[in-house]
Amino acid sequence: MITSDILTDSQHYIMNTYTRQPLVLVKGRGTKVYDSEGREYLDFVSGVAVNNLGHCHPRVVVALQKQAQRLMHVSNHFHNEPQINLAKALVKSSFADKVFFCNSGTEAVEAAIKLGRRYSREVLKQDRYEIITMRGSFHGRTYGSVSATAQEKFHKGFEPMVSGFVYVPFNDITAVEQAVNARTCAVLVEPIQGEGGVNMPSPGYLKALRELCDKNNLLLMLDEVQTGMGRTGKLYAYEHEGVTPDVVMLAKGLGGGMPIGALLATDKAAQALAPGTHGSTFGGNPLACAAALASLETLLEDNIIIPAVEQLGLHFLQQLDRLKKKYAFIKEVRGKGLLVGMELDSPGRDIVAACLKEGFLINCTMDTVLRFMPPLIMNEEELDLLIGALDRIFAKR
Ligand SMILES: Cc1ncc(COP(=O)(O)O)c(C=O)c1O
Repeated sequence: MITSDILTDSQHYIMNTYTRQPLVLVKGRGTKVYDSEGREYLDFVSGVAVNNLGHCHPRVVVALQKQAQRLMHVSNHFHNEPQINLAKALVKSSFADKVFFCNSGTEAVEAAIKLGRRYSREVLKQDRYEIITMRGSFHGRTYGSVSATAQEKFHKGFEPMVSGFVYVPFNDITAVEQAVNARTCAVLVEPIQGEGGVNMPSPGYLKALRELCDKNNLLLMLDEVQTGMGRTGKLYAYEHEGVTPDVVMLAKGLGGGMPIGALLATDKAAQALAPGTHGSTFGGNPLACAAALASLETLLEDNIIIPAVEQLGLHFLQQLDRLKKKYAFIKEVRGKGLLVGMELDSPGRDIVAACLKEGFLINCTMDTVLRFMPPLIMNEEELDLLIGALDRIFAKR
């Protein structure tokens, strides 16, 4: 089928919920993807922080092939080994004692919200249900998670929102202190706000939140859907801050390209969810878990990928900073590891389109923040290719 016909069919048959580039991607290998016309692109989007090991990592592909021939799906009324093995690997690699599996980031957030409320009622025996979330956050598109998302543009037209969320400015510990009351059960925060524009936590912010949660018997729930799985140079972003959360949400990079989400929790928090209180038909599906386990094991066993991420990120930030000094319309460059943002003084859509023409996939969030999330296996030379392209594009702006 020729590309223009595919694009026409797409418009005809698919709901118009995304602003898409006029590009049909047909193949991916490592850091590169290929379109229906055979053009090659260096991928700085990674399916929005999903393809952390690059496209079609051989270990993930083999795990999928083997599992697909053995068992693709069974109900959670039974046990399955890939699910157990993945849970074990996640527990061993983190603060957590228990895992709940689902299929996406938004579902992991829904599970966290439900756990947070039930924890107060069932474990603490107190009728508390309010969750404090941060302005500029993004937690997903289903009703609970979008209500937790403290950005009104995502609520517009969908009201009424789920009640019980209190929004405070990001990086403002006093505002959180003031928002805590007898109804508060948890604080939900991204260690770095991704969709909100790659907003960094100020030094000590997460630690202060931890102390505040301890003082008031609240759960500290970290949404690591975007920052988890090595993206920031540690397997989990909370490791940078020396903070131990009670609950962590994962998805995106967890599945090596397969859809999967997970809620990680301490034993104390996890006891809030008893049999029958929460569930998901596909959650912990053997196929998705086999892919996720292969991906996680690769990240853990390979002593190069994650340690290199922090260094690569520093190099990338330095190079972007060099461009900032050259072009006055660049307001700020920020990020950690390979989650990096460049804030412009005007919308960045034209830059995304120009990069595409040059053979680079990049993303723009909050209208003005160019966001770069390459596979963690990208090398310095490849990062520099984008820097060169951006320089050429910026020079013409
Ligand atoms: C921090 C965070 N939480 C939750 C989500 C929602 O994840 P999903 O799109 O898999 O539902 C996202 C998606 O961008 C995210 O960045």
